[in-house]
Amino acid sequence: MKKDIERILIDEAVIQKRLDTMAKEIETDFPAGPIIAIVLLKGAFVFAADLLRRIPRELSIECLNVSSYHGGMESSGKVDFLDRHFPEVKGAHVLLLDDILDTGRTLAAVAKRLEEEGALAVHTGVLLAKDKKRAEEVEADYTGFEIGDEFVVGYGLDYKGKYRNLPYVGVLKLSAAN
Ligand code: XMP
Repeated sequence: MKKDIERILIDEAVIQKRLDTMAKEIETDFPAGPIIAIVLLKGAFVFAADLLRRIPRELSIECLNVSSYHGGMESSGKVDFLDRHFPEVKGAHVLLLDDILDTGRTLAAVAKRLEEEGALAVHTGVLLAKDKKRAEEVEADYTGFEIGDEFVVGYGLDYKGKYRNLPYVGVLKLSAAN
């Protein structure tokens, strides 16, 4: 796996330190009462596991399968909800977590759906945000790191299903992307 990585962009220790801060911010900002964390699969599962364990609050965790990349390097432009059932969010403060904010379509589509389903408030958190013009006007309330507009893998992010288990975020070698 390592041989396919051009360079490490954010190493493990830096990610973990940043999560300490993000968790404190979330803990301070959220009003008293339960939180429902909605984790977008599969990319956000590593980030969410590390972040949510740092938040000493009553919270429930739901996962949603959405797809916009279909395994490649380019967004398909369409967000599909793949689950048969949508979690019950009526009247809840929701913390929506995704791995990376790119075109913004995923976060915008899921936040809209959560609002339609009756969530009281939708707060968004992403590990990474690409510094680029978005197709949808959306920014996350909590961002771990801003990165350039390049394709990254690791710490939950994949290319064709691989590299999710790397403990850091790295840039894939062009030779590995085919
Ligand atoms: P949008 O464009 O909807 O993208 O903001 C969000 C989803 O696209 C995937 N994505 C990536 N996956 N490396 C990846 O492994 C990347 O650089 C990348 N950029 C976008 C990701 O699934 C995210 O949830």
